[in-house]
Amino acid sequence: MTELLTNVRLATMTRARPYGLVDDAALAFEGETIVFAGPRAQAPSADRTLDLGGRLVTPGLIDAHTHLIYGGNRAQEWEQRLLGVSYAEIAYNGGGILATVRATRAAGYERLVQSAHARLATLCSHGVTTVEIKSGYGLDVETEIRMLRIARDLGPRLPVDVRATFLGAHAIPPEFRADPDGYVGTVCDAMLPHIASEKLADAVDAFCETIAFSPAQIERVFTRAAQLGLRVKLHADQLSDGGGAELAARFGALSADHLEFASAAGVEALARAGTVAVVLPGAFYFLREQQPPPVAALRAAGVPVAIATDCNPGTSPLVSPLLALNFACTLLGFSPEEALRGMTCEAARALDLHHDRGTLEPGKLADLAVWDVEHPAELAYALGANPCHATYKRGRRTDAAESRK
Ligand code: NIG
Ligand code: FE
Repeated sequence: MTELLTNVRLATMTRARPYGLVDDAALAFEGETIVFAGPRAQAPSADRTLDLGGRLVTPGLIDAHTHLIYGGNRAQEWEQRLLGVSYAEIAYNGGGILATVRATRAAGYERLVQSAHARLATLCSHGVTTVEIKSGYGLDVETEIRMLRIARDLGPRLPVDVRATFLGAHAIPPEFRADPDGYVGTVCDAMLPHIASEKLADAVDAFCETIAFSPAQIERVFTRAAQLGLRVKLHADQLSDGGGAELAARFGALSADHLEFASAAGVEALARAGTVAVVLPGAFYFLREQQPPPVAALRAAGVPVAIATDCNPGTSPLVSPLLALNFACTLLGFSPEEALRGMTCEAARALDLHHDRGTLEPGKLADLAVWDVEHPAELAYALGANPCHATYKRGRRTDAAESRK
């Protein structure tokens, strides 16, 4: 059966600038696949036609970096930070990520599912149809696996595809405080082989930072991941230049994320490796970071740049993808078009899913967001608004009003 959405403006996000816009357009799909996206006058005949009243249709948004499964929250740590205590100081004193690890270990499976489901439903109601979710608040075999199973369980419950990422090397757990290399051994020899054999993760991430893991420790994790056939990505150069971008590039990482302190050499390395830079404006904003990521240098070097919410309890309790786009423009120098590319076609690339999503073209999945706006720049513009009218996930419609219930 062919379904035709007519009387729309399409932001196809294909190469044609700006936004791959097609006015007075139509889009047709059969089952879960787009078969036509172009001028209404050329649209094929269809079994069912829906007039969308001139609304804008974009690819479904892709949030390529979240940590949305966690116990508790860190509002009180935020209060401390507003009084001048730094993120790094809080981490050194056993707070920060480790506070969320305690809360996550203590929460049962069902409580974690409920709170993560609510956050993911909010993302979906804002046009998200694909999301990446990391583990990393368990830091023991049992809880890391629980987090990944929850990530796998959440997808079928909502109109969204979930990519699960194993982030065992997120922080050094209290049990290994005196033996960080021992923990890296556990990640490599106990966690990774199990996760790979059960296919619980689609990729492996790590946090390269003075308060987390050294490049040498991360090399061990990445080498093991590669042996097990898993692609890698990295939290790189967020708080200091630790050569994270270069490290990610050396392992052919899918993405290097954050990058506030990445050096010129790091940017060049990403460009050569074809690694996507994932910029996280929510964390930049919420940490009141002073040093922006090198957006102009990334642009000049031709590095694909994605934008994501980084939804997490410590540095970016953000469940609005559109606010992330706004922050990218107002704080970091993105154009609204670059920002939207960052959450569609470039985000698809960051997840290695660009073969089947991220643009509106025949052959790609009918993952769509329908918006009550005239022009795509309005998506990044309206602070705190949610103009999402409906989404289509693999051709199946969800009304935004419905998904907010
Ligand atoms: O992306 N940088 C490390 N990981 C997260 C923060 C996690 C946390 O503070 O709980 C991030 O910012
Ligand atoms: Fe993160």
